[in-house]
Amino acid sequence: VITPVLMAGGSGTRLWPVSRKSFPKQFAALTGDETLFQASARRLSGAGYAPPVVMTNSDFRFIVAEQLEQAGITPGRIVIEPAGRNTAPAILAAALMVAETDPQGLVLVAPSDHVIPDAAGFAATVAMGAQAAAQGRIVTFGITPDRPETGYGYLELATTGEGPQPLARFVEKPDASRAAQMLAAGNFLWNAGIFLFRAQVMIDAFRTHAPAYLDPVGQSLDQAQTDLGFLRLAKAPWLLAEDKSIDYAVMEKADNLTVVRFSGRWSDLGGWDAVWREALDQTPSDQGVVTDANSTAIDCHDVLLRSDSDEMQVVGIGLRDLMVVATSDAVLVADRARAQDVRQAVLALKAKR
Ligand code: GDD
Ligand code: MG
Repeated sequence: VITPVLMAGGSGTRLWPVSRKSFPKQFAALTGDETLFQASARRLSGAGYAPPVVMTNSDFRFIVAEQLEQAGITPGRIVIEPAGRNTAPAILAAALMVAETDPQGLVLVAPSDHVIPDAAGFAATVAMGAQAAAQGRIVTFGITPDRPETGYGYLELATTGEGPQPLARFVEKPDASRAAQMLAAGNFLWNAGIFLFRAQVMIDAFRTHAPAYLDPVGQSLDQAQTDLGFLRLAKAPWLLAEDKSIDYAVMEKADNLTVVRFSGRWSDLGGWDAVWREALDQTPSDQGVVTDANSTAIDCHDVLLRSDSDEMQVVGIGLRDLMVVATSDAVLVADRARAQDVRQAVLALKAKR
């Protein structure tokens, strides 16, 4: 069986005002009835999967527990990181935990804020990587790129074959010119941010490429305490772990990576433009109009009008290329091409306080 490890500790500021520091995007229902976190947990439940381990923090622990319960999914463990140290220490902690109970067991690390509508196709792709993972590879999942995105990692393919293959190189978040080069070269895929491996293999990869994590994370786990059913990692050692993502700490350096291509739809919903595109895919509209129960568009083209508050109706007239997102206490109005700059809005608001 595969133990799913769901990463649910990030903050997602580009989807403000729905995504908040205290309620980030993975816990919001952005494209369907279920929240992204619930959909992610569901995708990794059922036959072949152990109950999920959720890596999160103190602020989100009750949201995690409640959303799992609501989805009818019993967690294996909900682990509280004492401070956000990015994904490297969180993934090592999860690998150490699984290795204790199931040393040969496979671990599937997955973000909890992605949209992958084709659950069956995704399961088949994971199954394609299982053998390589059992043999000691760290399996990555690759998405065919369609733009020179700088917010993703890139996976360089060694061959043109379709099946699982060794990875030539892992490049995390290139600058714009390198991203353009890699897109043009044609032999690169985006890293979906999902990893499949044997717990012990990941621990060994840390030992080789990022050994400084072993003591702080190991001690933090040894001294962990159970608190209302949550596993709370010990703070003092945890704070000594460097704040770094797994991509920089391990993946860029590892020489035992394998890649499996995932050809189904995948989106990391990295901004309101991505939410808009995803919604159009589910409910096509010739005018490119996306509205919800609390919003109305009249003579609009290529707009997203959304209100998460029943107390707040949003009406657009004659708009083009705009995103309007309202909650009970904030309204965002942004040019569609500037969706990525919503992050700046959050910083600007913080500075004002
Ligand atoms: N538990 C925990 N603790 N989770 C975290 C933490 C943390 O400190 N920091 C981030 N996460 C979670 C996020 O909530 C998300 O689900 C996942 O880990 C990945 O973190 P992001 O911050 O969203 O990473 P990214 O999007 O910049 O980059 C990663 O994902 C891309 C695909 O979406 C990389 O793996 C890229 O290579 C990849 O292309
Ligand atoms: Mg992300």
